[in-house]
Amino acid sequence: MSRWLPWSEATRSALYGHGGFFHSEQGPAAHFRTSVHASGLLAVAVLALVERVDVELGQPERLDLVDVGAGRGELLLDVARLLDRPSALSGRVRLHGVDLAERPQRLPPQIGWSAELPEHSVGLLFANEWLDNVPLDVVEAGPDGPRRVLVDPATGDESPGGPIGLRDASWLARWWPLDASPEGARAEVGFPRDVAWADAVGSLDGGLAVAVDYGHLRADRSAGTYSDGTLAGYRDGRRVRPVPDGSCDLTASVALDACAAAGEAAGGTLTELCRQRDLLPTLLGEIGEIGEIGEPAPGTTAEALARASELAELTDPDGLGAFWWLTQAVSR
Ligand SMILES: C[S@@+](CC[C@H](N)C(=O)[O-])C[C@H]1O[C@@H](n2cnc3c(N)ncnc32)[C@H](O)[C@@H]1O
Repeated sequence: MSRWLPWSEATRSALYGHGGFFHSEQGPAAHFRTSVHASGLLAVAVLALVERVDVELGQPERLDLVDVGAGRGELLLDVARLLDRPSALSGRVRLHGVDLAERPQRLPPQIGWSAELPEHSVGLLFANEWLDNVPLDVVEAGPDGPRRVLVDPATGDESPGGPIGLRDASWLARWWPLDASPEGARAEVGFPRDVAWADAVGSLDGGLAVAVDYGHLRADRSAGTYSDGTLAGYRDGRRVRPVPDGSCDLTASVALDACAAAGEAAGGTLTELCRQRDLLPTLLGEIGEIGEIGEPAPGTTAEALARASELAELTDPDGLGAFWWLTQAVSR
């Protein structure tokens, strides 16, 4: 018996429901490689941002680092190790992971963990590859306007659904217009990600909110670059047909300009949107890492060579380097 559901609903139970993909024991790292898994250098860059925020806030007694969509806490553990070295931040940074998955057993008790965003944080909120996993609906251009696409969770087969509501129609009109698109062109309604990002920005009383993800901008969406849609499945490191049965990751590119506008409405200012390949070397340079890892000279240690190759992976223009960093300051 088939059970046709909108993609958002099917994705929510496939990823986060009972027995869902993100509750599996191994966690996301078993199925795909994020910047966090690729290199400890991401933690170094995050620490550089924490230092920036610390100076900006006048070195408060307590500074929060909230990792949203924290996976199995890998980034927080890397940062905790770096914070063990004596520095101006010593003893002042409180680490907290937010994830729908259970608290990882290996996290030390001083690292907080919750399924919900903590309120009134002051410091850095960082979300690596979180927003692309926030479920959304898929629509298709039809003769009388966009129609919701329904999916059978058991097979991934699709069927045309009914017309969309006013809220989704106005999101599409602003961010992913389909009026000039041929019949059958697809779009993903990013509204739930805007809400998720606005909530994240809204949870900060002061500091910086950063979302890192793969994404697209309105000009390219309107030009039809993504008219086949971007919804994809991943399992065991391979791209697979997206079937919302809990067996694979389900992810879609993020309309980061729309999230940025939502973040601004929630109090975010000084919005910047740049590529990982451009920002990461700057941040690593600030913290004195780039000297060691930039261009290995003859006789460079094996460790420095390994770091150079990690940096190359993180800044690869056809891979992780193409990821966007959305940064927004908050001061209430
Ligand atoms: C692709 S993984 C990224 C993990 C980690 N940040 C990394 O870069 O390796 C996305 C994570 O976001 C979590 N997630 C998705 N939606 C969430 C929500 N609404 N609240 C908390 N966590 C969420 C998932 O459970 C998953 O662990």
